[in-house]
Amino acid sequence: MALSELTKRRTASGVTFELSVPALNVPRGGCFALCGESGSGKSTLLDILALASRPDSVKTFTLHAQARLRSDIAALWARGGTDSLAPLRARHLGYVPQTGGLFAFLRVRDNIALPRRLLGLPDDGTVEHLAERLGVADQLRKKPSALSVGQRQRVAIARALAHGPALVLADEPTASVDPATAETVMALLLEQAARNGAAVVVASHDWARLQQLGMPRLHPRIERHSDGDTTVVRSIFDEVRQ
Ligand SMILES: Nc1ncnc2c1ncn2[C@@H]1O[C@H](COP(=O)(O)OP(=O)(O)OP(=O)(O)O)[C@@H](O)[C@H]1O
Ligand SMILES: [Mg+2]
Repeated sequence: MALSELTKRRTASGVTFELSVPALNVPRGGCFALCGESGSGKSTLLDILALASRPDSVKTFTLHAQARLRSDIAALWARGGTDSLAPLRARHLGYVPQTGGLFAFLRVRDNIALPRRLLGLPDDGTVEHLAERLGVADQLRKKPSALSVGQRQRVAIARALAHGPALVLADEPTASVDPATAETVMALLLEQAARNGAAVVVASHDWARLQQLGMPRLHPRIERHSDGDTTVVRSIFDEVRQ
């Protein structure tokens, strides 16, 4: 995935937040982390990368999911977006939203299996394998409401990986789990990247772990100014640190 000159504004009660990404390239098989303080736009950017939220303006935005498959996301959004983006999202993306996003009415097993089922992929043991790796194999028959927050987060991660997507996006995937589980979760995400040539983008505050894993980090610069009665907070994601 690659994009340039992207902006997205959100205004509420006299405060405008403006996300700005001059240039971003997520190579196939690559991984990096979005860092930055709370409110700096990490989730806003992940929603855009997940093709779930439309940029206000963007010069180029392409998804290069397979060797001979390149989709012009900017053009698809310009033409209305949602219908044409839905199949791309279902096939090529795996998204772990900050709040998990599991379906309350589906059992854990069916939540994890859903992306495969929607694509017509066979029931080949992937669900059990991922649940085992993430330590939720004994929770498969439950509904999400009967799980701890950290268990729900791990189920959401299994669901994001189940269909072998080209790009995995995870919003603070280790925020609610113990350090040992956090290590497993990050290891699994990166293993997936290596095995499938999938790219991984995580939002995380866990700088020490990111550094240990050698993940490049993208940091925002925050600029504040007043525009009449409105306070404008601009977050520019342009600083890569190794
Ligand atoms: N619906 C909305 N309307 C207006 N502003 C919004 C809306 N949702 C979020 N914002 C603003 O957008 C900015 C970015 O929010 P975002 O959730 O992307 O931050 P974040 O970096 O993910 O924070 P955190 O680390 O707390 O998850 C925030 O300053 C927030 O106040
Ligand atoms: Mg967030």
